[in-house]
This record gives sequence, structure tokens and C-alpha cells, in this order.
Amino acid sequence: MKIVFYGAGNMAHAIFTGIVNSNVLPPENIFLTNRSNEDALKSYQDDLGVQYSYDDKKLLDQADYIFLGSKPHDFDKIADRIREYVQPNHKFISIMAGLPISYIREKLSVDNPIARIMPNTNAHVGHSVTGVSFSNNFGPRSKDEVLNVINAFGSAIEVQEDHLHQVTAITGSGPAFLYHVFEKYVQAGTKLGLEKSQVEESIQELIIGTSKMIERSDLSMEQLRKNITSKGGTTQAGLNALSQYDIEGIFEDCLNAAVNRSIELSAQDDD
Ligand SMILES: NC(=O)c1ccc[n+]([C@@H]2O[C@H](COP(=O)([O-])OP(=O)(O)OC[C@H]3O[C@@H](n4cnc5c(N)ncnc54)[C@H](OP(=O)(O)O)[C@@H]3O)[C@@H](O)[C@H]2O)c1
Repeated sequence: MKIVFYGAGNMAHAIFTGIVNSNVLPPENIFLTNRSNEDALKSYQDDLGVQYSYDDKKLLDQADYIFLGSKPHDFDKIADRIREYVQPNHKFISIMAGLPISYIREKLSVDNPIARIMPNTNAHVGHSVTGVSFSNNFGPRSKDEVLNVINAFGSAIEVQEDHLHQVTAITGSGPAFLYHVFEKYVQAGTKLGLEKSQVEESIQELIIGTSKMIERSDLSMEQLRKNITSKGGTTQAGLNALSQYDIEGIFEDCLNAAVNRSIELSAQDDD
């Protein structure tokens, strides 16, 4: 299987690194190109053994998958670069947020199978939760190939294309929402009188340990919380203070705002 990445930026880099490190594909089957930053491509070649080129004809010859990894507003230029070389057997994987399958097809003037995926930045540590949606003409074997690729940098959740907005909000933007909560927790912690660096280090370890508990325990998060909340104890006192606020409502507002923005942005791209 040959896969060609159009765009080798932040997110694509995490993805092809995951593919190489997990041996899903040998590095020589992975080809990269970008707009102009050849130094970046050279360093990926040196580090990972992947190949790169700016010759679109050669890149797309015998390719199985074309990975669309640019920002959405750069896609039209990529479409102009590759349109004449696209073959009926090529399948596309797009990470471009908000660009519908119908738009990609229209710009390329093709009806090839297209998978849209919505990874998140945790791909850098092999833990992206990635939403994926397939065009109707994506065959079962090809779907398995795409899921295999996604599993190289985390896990996959298959949804209808119009539900990618919700995936974008919950897990695409999700790391930023959690970072924000953690930042506030650190800020509040430092007001208790300990050294800032001590608080930062402790909370970092707290987050990692809590995540591992969630991962490794068979218990629900609710049960894990209940297990450390003795009646009348310190944890109970803190939770009582928290329960004065509508935390669920706050996150509902946050997620709805992100979903609505995702819908707005994709409507703009559709124009
Ligand atoms: N970052 C995230 O957390 C995240 C999460 C989910 C989805 N996404 C999606 O991932 C996509 C990429 O985001 P990013 O943060 O990785 O962007 P990025 O770091 O800016 O990378 C963009 C890449 O596209 C290349 N490019 C631009 N024009 C091109 C052209 N005409 N031909 C070939 N390559 C071209 C750039 O090449 P040069 O370097 O040479 O300019 C660069 O390699 C976006 O569509 C975004 O919606 C990102």
C-alpha cells in the first residue's frame, strides 16, 4: 500500500510518525509533499525513512491513498496540483476540518472514495480519538485499511459525516478544553501558598495518574470518584463547593458553541 501525504504539517507529522512507529506500513511506502518547506521534508526523511518529492505525477503513480493534510483554505491549490493525475483507483483521506466530501469531489472533479477523519492533537502520543466518516462508495476492505491507519495513532469512532461537527467539538477541540480546566486548577492551587512549580508538577502528575486510573480500572468515573469521597471528609467538602455551579451546563455551552462554529465554518467553505 502506497500513501501520499499532501501537507506534512503538525497533524500530518503526528499521523505518519504513528504509522511508521507502529509498523502499519514500511516507511518507504509513505511519500510526503508540501507547499515549499523542503527542509521539513528532508528532516522527516532522515528521521523516519519516509520519501518525499514535489513531482505530483510520480507521487501519484501507483498510489493507493492520497492524504489531504493541509489547512482547508489551501485545498483548492492542492486540487489544482493533482487533478490531472488522479486515477479511479485512488482513495482519499482528508483531515481538513469542515470541508465536506462533496466539496472535495467537486474541486477534484472526481467520484473516488473519500474518508474524512477528525483526529486530535493527542495523535502526537498515539492517543488521538479520531472520528471517521466514509463516502458511500468506500469498500469494506478499504475501510479496514483506513481504520488500521487510524489505529496507528490512537482509536477510531465511525460516524455519519454530519456528526463530524460533534466529534470536532468533543474530541477535536477537547484537548484545549481540558487544558483550560487544568490551567485554572493550577492557578487556583498556587493561591494556596505552595511554590508555583511544585503545584504545576504535582498537578501534571495528578492528571497523568487520574487518566491511567480511568484507563486501567473497570469502574466508571462516577464510581472512582465515589470511592475516594468519604462522608464528611475533605473531598466531600470540595465537591459540595463545586456542586454549587452548573458544571454540566458550562460544558454544554462550550460544546454547543464549538459545534455551531464548526457548522458555520463548513457552510462558508461550501459557498
Ligand atoms: N492541529 C489539530 O489539532 C487538528 C485537529 C484536527 C484536524 N486538523 C486539521 O489538520 C489540517 C492541518 O493542520 P495543521 O495544524 O497540521 O497545519 P500546518 O501545520 O499548517 O500544516 C499544513 C501543511 O499543508 C501544506 N500545504 C499548504 N499548501 C499546500 C499545497 N498547495 N500543496 C501541498 N501542501 C500544502 C503545508 O506546507 P508548507 O509547510 O510547505 O507551507 C504544511 O505542510 C487542517 O485542515 C486542520 O483542520 C488539525
